[in-house]
Amino acid sequence: MNRYDIHTHILPRLDDGSPDIDISMVLLEELENQGVTHLAFTPHFYSQYVDMSGNDEQSEKILQQYFQSRKDALQSVLREYEGHMRFTYGAEVHMSENIIHAKDLSPLCYHGTNYLLAEMPYDSVMAENEVVWLKTLIEKYNITPILAHIERYTVLVTDKKLLSRLREMGCKVQINTESLYTRGLSKILFKLINEGYVDFLGSDTHSTMRGCDYHRGYMEMVKHCDSSMVEGIAHNGSFLFKG
Ligand SMILES: [Fe+2]
Repeated sequence: MNRYDIHTHILPRLDDGSPDIDISMVLLEELENQGVTHLAFTPHFYSQYVDMSGNDEQSEKILQQYFQSRKDALQSVLREYEGHMRFTYGAEVHMSENIIHAKDLSPLCYHGTNYLLAEMPYDSVMAENEVVWLKTLIEKYNITPILAHIERYTVLVTDKKLLSRLREMGCKVQINTESLYTRGLSKILFKLINEGYVDFLGSDTHSTMRGCDYHRGYMEMVKHCDSSMVEGIAHNGSFLFKG
């Protein structure tokens, strides 16, 4: 079965992930050795610092610079890479009020799709205004938000009513593979997977020390979760590799 890693910080020199092309190659080789067949590059994008309405020249420059840097970094990886994984790219978009005033969000989606990896603020309790950001993505921009590493937000793994509401609204859910072998957390996540609350897996690889351990988490999932759910997660992954 294909293994999809939809959340990584492997493109060089873009964020707090890989600092150079050599490290990027080490990380890609490592994940490929762990059986990953499809990998998405999702460098951080901090919407809270950028006016995305198209009315601010300085912000337009920042946006264009982000897209150009991502393109250059991707090309540098493609020039060096000799393995067999299939790649796509998107962004891990830190959510803020700016998102709902954006002119165009399609360049931040996974290439060729309307899926967008949405990272809620670090201390989010999913207050109503934050739910509105997600609702706006869906209704105004026709985007499907994928909530990044929901296990980082206590409320999202404890309040099933809220998680159900978000999913019914149109949100999808991603968890990090390393959380699947984190004591105290893994059991909760296996339950969520078995109940159908989880759509995607990502390693959130930043370095050899952070993330970059897809196989271990994946095997824990295989051991503790229904095979139909594991297959479903693999099937969902394929939606992001259309571009
Ligand atoms: Fe991330």
